Amino acid sequence: MKVLLVNGSPHTAGSTYTALHEMEQIFQANGIETELLQIGKQDIRGCVACNACSKLGKCAFSDLVNEAAPKFEEADGLVVGSPVYYASANATLIAFLDRLFYSTHFDKTMKVGAAVVSARRGGLSASFDELNKYFTIAGMPVASSHYWNSIHGNNASEAAQDLEGLQVMRTLARNMTFLMKSIQLGKETFGLPEKEPRVSTNFIR
Ligand SMILES: Cc1cc2nc3c(=O)[nH]c(=O)nc-3n(C[C@H](O)[C@H](O)[C@H](O)COP(=O)(O)O)c2cc1C
Repeated sequence: MKVLLVNGSPHTAGSTYTALHEMEQIFQANGIETELLQIGKQDIRGCVACNACSKLGKCAFSDLVNEAAPKFEEADGLVVGSPVYYASANATLIAFLDRLFYSTHFDKTMKVGAAVVSARRGGLSASFDELNKYFTIAGMPVASSHYWNSIHGNNASEAAQDLEGLQVMRTLARNMTFLMKSIQLGKETFGLPEKEPRVSTNFIR
């Protein structure tokens, strides 16, 4: 089994990374393969709504998004980590996720998602909610911990002092592991849920 982790922060060894790394260690101890994508310093443009992806099956802009897509397709779980910028997930990560989720058409049903956020002080739960929306529009169950998945710190050494935040990450990784393994068993036993042809209405009438 494999988990893809995405760090939206430009600080490749910062506070968000500290939280993600705490999870990586638990995944690896439980036999789950991990891959960490550091996207925070990359030039990732936003979606321009050209809809070329509906024909191409991938984004018209060839960058990290198209490189990440097959890794996401292969993975059983996706963890996205973000520093909080103005009470939101950071813009680079949002550009990446908008295009990744919009341009890929493989079935994401029952891949497990988890969002992790890091801040000096405020805006954590707003950013956490924002990130969970990618999973919950894609048929992806969301793994949870014993608190909302946040860590406090302006840098790695401050985050390392947030013992509760680190414990939340370890619990999250254990719960996510359990969920992924249970879903694998469920798929073998029952198969994926039946899918209806998609109804798409642009107006509520
Ligand atoms: C542009 C910008 C906006 C920020 N906005 C917030 C904020 O709204 N709330 C907050 O607590 N910290 C804010 N911060 C601080 C970061 O969220 C915090 O330092 C974070 O833990 C850094 O994570 P990193 O080390 O992974 O980059 C902001 C930082 C930057 C650069």
